[in-house]
Amino acid sequence: MSYFATLLGKSFGQEGWARGCLGSQVIVLYLGNAAPTLCYNRILDALISKESFAGNLGNRMNRTSVVDQLPVYIFDEINRLKHEARVAGRDVIDLGMGNPDLPTPRPIVEKLREAVLDPRNHRYSVSRGIMGLRRELARWYERKFSISLADEQILVTLGAKEGFTHLIQAVVDPGEAVLLTSPCYPIHRYAVQIARALPVALAGTETEGLVEKIQTALQQEPRPRTLILSYPNNPTTHCVERSFFEELIPLARREDLLVIHDFSYADLVFDGYKAPSILEVPGASEVSVEFYSMSKGYSMAGWRVGFCVGNAQVISKLRRLKSYLDYGMFQPIQIAAAIALRDCDAEVEKIRETYEKRRDCLIQGLERLNWVVQPPRGTIFVWAPLPSHFRQRGSLEFARHLLTQANVAVSPGIGFGPEGEGWVRMALVENVQRISQAVRNLKRVLQLEVSSNKGQAA
Ligand SMILES: Cc1ncc(COP(=O)(O)O)c(C=O)c1O
Repeated sequence: MSYFATLLGKSFGQEGWARGCLGSQVIVLYLGNAAPTLCYNRILDALISKESFAGNLGNRMNRTSVVDQLPVYIFDEINRLKHEARVAGRDVIDLGMGNPDLPTPRPIVEKLREAVLDPRNHRYSVSRGIMGLRRELARWYERKFSISLADEQILVTLGAKEGFTHLIQAVVDPGEAVLLTSPCYPIHRYAVQIARALPVALAGTETEGLVEKIQTALQQEPRPRTLILSYPNNPTTHCVERSFFEELIPLARREDLLVIHDFSYADLVFDGYKAPSILEVPGASEVSVEFYSMSKGYSMAGWRVGFCVGNAQVISKLRRLKSYLDYGMFQPIQIAAAIALRDCDAEVEKIRETYEKRRDCLIQGLERLNWVVQPPRGTIFVWAPLPSHFRQRGSLEFARHLLTQANVAVSPGIGFGPEGEGWVRMALVENVQRISQAVRNLKRVLQLEVSSNKGQAA
């Protein structure tokens, strides 16, 4: 039932009166010469005190919404412990959240500074992004991947995460099944849930046999019409070759399956590996879109710059939805982002090298502790199996243990889906000195644990 209160003001010749409606019930109150906000509050108080209304309000507040069905955020527990440790004066080495610590390259910041001083850039911008930024992204795709994108195939988003979440709302109907790999970046699953659709997890970290698994999953009811992928992958760091997409795209075309590829770690690849864009495959833009983000490669996480590119019809749906929701990114940021895409390849290369050195430092350090971990070929993470003597305790308990005993924060694998249990993710967002310190701290705790286990066994 709807309810509202209005002030019957001077213009109606009813000064001092207010009227409230609860569905078809109408209450009119005389409020003398009280100030308008006071009038409004009083009429609402009066409405609320009516028994029938109170009942209604109670129902409305208690009703379970889609948000209540989202699980408690598992990383909250680690964040709370991290906060407590810092308040207690302990030096926590934070390899938990994938929040890039490197500064945004100077030319980008300088361009922002210049653009922000021009008042013409202070107005609402355009929801789809300014022409100059779309044009530079098209040139970027052409330069890096020899992919030609028409203007209607490009949309600027407020970060990949915002664009992705709204895209799911734009293309997925409530109750529809959506395929995704698991473990996964949490919003890949929760955006589906927020859209009241049904996430269907394809378990496993490898892509070998994945196309067959997708094929099988397409036989089930309700039949999935959308697939979410992301390589280089967060959290598993798994990377693919172009041949994987070459196998997938014909299936997607045959089965009328929309493939959404999150390519946020496109720039952060190691050992000479080059991550392929899904759009490199002929025919891919008939059935797929890709998200690219400036948060990682350009170290612009706080700026919130992302893009959705690919199938023009899908882009147009997202563009339409976003035109109702936002007025576009602050224009000076768009201008600086365009300069970044045009002029900052060398700066991205330095950022990439920095992560590669950190990766080597952590992997070699863990190896010295007999903790053998596959070196990632991409992303800003290391995905490590729990040491054998910790497996029973689970990843959340292990992460808690490392934080409280070694002052090292890591993300428990279970936070990325049940299939992530048995693993932890370490983000390379501290410098090499701090990563080396983290390894020394871990050594103390892990060796203690091994010797106490031996003691128990003896
Ligand atoms: C796979 C993946 N996609 C998207 C994002 C977020 O990107 P953005 O900052 O552009 O919203 C992240 C950040 O951690 C990520 O790991």
